[in-house]
Amino acid sequence: MDANDMGRDLSKVLISEDEIAAKLDELAAAIDRDFAGKEVLLVGVLNGAVMVMADLSRRIHTPVTMDWMAVSSYGSGTKSSGVVRILKDLSTDVHGKHILIVEDIIDSGLTLSWLVRNLSSREPASIKVATLLRKPEAAKVEVDVAYCGFDIPSEFVVGYGLDYDGRYRNLPFIGTLAPHVYGG
Ligand code: XMP
Ligand code: MG
Repeated sequence: MDANDMGRDLSKVLISEDEIAAKLDELAAAIDRDFAGKEVLLVGVLNGAVMVMADLSRRIHTPVTMDWMAVSSYGSGTKSSGVVRILKDLSTDVHGKHILIVEDIIDSGLTLSWLVRNLSSREPASIKVATLLRKPEAAKVEVDVAYCGFDIPSEFVVGYGLDYDGRYRNLPFIGTLAPHVYGG
């Protein structure tokens, strides 16, 4: 599947399926090195992180457990506001555990910094963050991202879990949405 299959909605393939796979191999190897001898609780942020979680976790050899959170950050259209509401909380107690938050994309970083603060208050042993994608805006927020796949330009991207209006999550690659689709 490539950008042509999506008609004129995508302007290009930004990161191919193969490039994603190679990068996840690297991230998993780094995670295995850093967490050697420990057990990790992977916390996936729904819905966007499902693909990253599935593909990254299968490359990790360190013992892991997995849990999910769904949050919504209030904001209009494609911008987040930093005011976050929990739609689905974790089902596990994270006290004393080594948490690795698994994200699809960090844009402003506001959602993530809220999440880190929220999970920190539950007294885990440690918290680290892994994200497949990061936009330049994220640099403005003080969140340490231990594992980042790709630094991408500030364009709206879809695919591999990321949606526009609920669509395109099933694309196996990351594509750039054509501006006409979101009224640009
Ligand atoms: P912040 O700005 O708080 O928000 O870091 C991160 C969340 O915003 C969404 N987001 C995107 N979703 N394509 C998407 O499909 C994008 O280019 C994009 N940029 C931000 C996403 O839900 C992410 O978790
Ligand atoms: Mg997300």
